[in-house]
Amino acid sequence: MTEAKKTAKLTIGENSYDLPIFSPTAGPDVIDIRKLYGEAGVFTYDPGFTSTASCDSTITFIDGGKGELLHRGYPIDQLAGKSHYLEVCYLLLYGELPSAAQLEDFESTITRHTMLHEQMVNFFRGFRRDAHPMAVMVGVVGAMSAFYHDSTDVNDERQREIASHRLIAKMPTIAAWAYKYSVGQPFVYPRNDLDYAANFLHMCFAVPAEEYHVDPILSRAMDRIFILHADHEQNASTSTVRLASSSGANPFACIAAGIACLWGPAHGGANQACLEMLKEIGGVDRIPEYIARAKDKNDPFRLMGFGHRVYKNFDPRATVMKQSADEVLDLLGIENNPLLQVAKELEKIALEDEYFAEKKLFPNVDFYSGIILEAMGFPTSMFTPIFALSRTVGWVSQWKEMIADPQNKIGRPRQLYLGETARDYVDIEKR
Ligand code: SDX
Repeated sequence: MTEAKKTAKLTIGENSYDLPIFSPTAGPDVIDIRKLYGEAGVFTYDPGFTSTASCDSTITFIDGGKGELLHRGYPIDQLAGKSHYLEVCYLLLYGELPSAAQLEDFESTITRHTMLHEQMVNFFRGFRRDAHPMAVMVGVVGAMSAFYHDSTDVNDERQREIASHRLIAKMPTIAAWAYKYSVGQPFVYPRNDLDYAANFLHMCFAVPAEEYHVDPILSRAMDRIFILHADHEQNASTSTVRLASSSGANPFACIAAGIACLWGPAHGGANQACLEMLKEIGGVDRIPEYIARAKDKNDPFRLMGFGHRVYKNFDPRATVMKQSADEVLDLLGIENNPLLQVAKELEKIALEDEYFAEKKLFPNVDFYSGIILEAMGFPTSMFTPIFALSRTVGWVSQWKEMIADPQNKIGRPRQLYLGETARDYVDIEKR
């Protein structure tokens, strides 16, 4: 924690309070209110946490005004262009880019943790075939604490590291098997001769009846999607993982909580909702109707894939994702994909509309990812599981950082109570 160099003065009635101000290496100063309730007997009020820093962290920095996203200081566009997902995982977990030897060791460790305990096959088989893959992922990841007892003690640093590796390694297998189960095909086991992204595509699309060749351009695009979703500061699902972990719950249960939160359409579920919206729009001629609905205060409809709590200029991930969309659709010979045409025209019209300019709404990370994933052959129900797979390293990195923080204590927000004050029970015959 940095030393406070400035103070804020808060005056309430006749009393005034000096609150320390901490300055970050980047971003806004923070006012330390930890002693406010004890000294002044008041709470602060910030539902949705729009002005609240819940922790200090050295992992990811976002500048919403500049559209900047850094992972351990490295800009996302450089990582997406020059790195690969497992190297980014190492960076997020350990704070520095790995040497060649460190990277080889890390990749070998992850590769050898990709298989699931064989008994978990029965767990998958307990679901209905039409279960949403996110329901399967929440259940299976939570159940990992029942299969991997030797990595659930959060106070043991080595067990924390093994749990981190197991989660990063097994999520592609869990996501792929959730997909296979939903389409009634046999599970395809991970292969140690394939890289992380190619292995995932192979587990999703190979069948025992014939060889399946993973196109290197598709696995590169898949790897880039993983990188672009890897971590994103204290977003809703990461904050969920941190809060769940603050009670000392085991890592598998906490990551399952993060998956549950990510599922919502306002968060990671937006990629599925966005593609379903593009399909509903159907053609560029109907875009004005949906733009009007998005602007109508009486209509709960929102343009899925647009807007962001932090980015108020542009989402740097969407810029890279748009390039990937062009490459993948060009490779697949569907550069005239009607959904992509609707998406590009919707983006153009929305960005010219003063409502969206005023509200600072523009495509976010979820806007183009669905188009790529659909072009690759994934059903929309698999979009958010792929987001969850990618974000696991972010959740795990933030969890490790929090657990290792000596200031770590259970999260316990208070409230602005507007309910009834104390009153006596009324017997039923008198009601
Ligand atoms: C992710 O936090 C993260 O970092 C998340 C994420 C990550 O990597 O973890 O980046 C991933 O979740 C990206 C966001 C995906 N969600 C969507 O695409 C769903 C559509 N977007 C909206 O639901 C919304 O923009 C949010 C939830 C993303 C952000 O909402 P905010 O910041 O809480 O803003 P708000 O809901 O208070 O909206 C502000 C105004 C409102 O109008 P007023 O009440 O001020 O008149 O903007 C309007 C909203 O009605 N608005 C939209 C809109 N988003 C906001 N109007 C139309 N369409 C939209 N998409």
